[in-house]
Amino acid sequence: MIVLGIETSCDETAAAVLADGRRILSDVVASQDALHAPWGGVVPELASRRHLEIIGPVVERALAEAGVKLGDLDGLAVTQGPGLVGSLLVGCAVAKALAWAHRKPLVGVNHLEGHIYAAFLVEPAPTHPFVALVVSGGHTALYHARAPLHYALLGQTRDDAAGEAFDKVAKLLGLGFPGGPAIQRVAEQGDPRAIAFPLAQMTDGARDFSFSGIKTSVSLYVKRHGPLSPAAVADVAASFQAAVVKMLVRKTVRAALHVGVKRVVLTGGVAANGPLRQALGREAEDHGITLHIPPPRLCTDNAAMITAAGTERLRAGERASLEMNARPDLVLA
Ligand code: KG4
Ligand code: ZN
Repeated sequence: MIVLGIETSCDETAAAVLADGRRILSDVVASQDALHAPWGGVVPELASRRHLEIIGPVVERALAEAGVKLGDLDGLAVTQGPGLVGSLLVGCAVAKALAWAHRKPLVGVNHLEGHIYAAFLVEPAPTHPFVALVVSGGHTALYHARAPLHYALLGQTRDDAAGEAFDKVAKLLGLGFPGGPAIQRVAEQGDPRAIAFPLAQMTDGARDFSFSGIKTSVSLYVKRHGPLSPAAVADVAASFQAAVVKMLVRKTVRAALHVGVKRVVLTGGVAANGPLRQALGREAEDHGITLHIPPPRLCTDNAAMITAAGTERLRAGERASLEMNARPDLVLA
């Protein structure tokens, strides 16, 4: 089963072709990082205009690298939401036009489900049931994936997403955009025990996350102690990263033990973070939990993950009509 997938939910223009939802025949990602970097974050209007300019060549390249023609496809998949509406609309319009012109079945994919399906692109693939921590620039959520395509929400952030916190703290420290990789790089030179940033506790005992408190603590620290030397910046970055990692690892392991599931998937842009991958790896091993983490390039936004999830939905008989619209606030569970 050969499927073309398109992803344009934020600032990556991406297209991929997969065989049977598992074998990557091509995986093209055009990053817009350089376009948005001068503004310190993604500018929605610039993002949608760039998608419009390059979606054609990106799709053509994905097909050419896979050695596949549109007529060979068994279906198309596209990210329907959540994301920036102007960005999502570009992918949806292109996917609908191609599906209509070539009489191919089409499905809309939830971007977060796509992140989870990145784990199915590596061997061994996870088996259900499992717990998935999706940590990205827009989302931080824990899901219980009971059976294929069935999800229950176990907890989510009440304010900022983890990636958003990385991006905002990087901005405070003058480290540029995107913030996650910059913080990780600078933190290597710092002491993670230098500053004890507070870990958010939910007073109502929920499995939710909160990152706005730690972001405020970093901001106050910078105001009180600034201007910071490069060594002090490295200490703040390392201490912030350590606190976020600790919070994510603790809640994930607790959630898995609570639902009695010994399999965990870690995915989303922040899952590219080395210290997070290592810390969750250690903790999972201590608790006899099997951990599945896609390689970093499949953790950040890409179309291979959308195609993997879309293939599963096409197989299940799901079809989107040409009425399908972008859904910026689409929820998974
Ligand atoms: O999944 P993603 O590519 O896009 C969204 O769906 O949001 O995630 C992007 C987020 C950004 O906030 C970025 O700073 C963060 O993932 N990120 C990282 C790392 N690489 C990307 N955060 C921490 N450490 C990294 N190495
Ligand atoms: Zn994402």
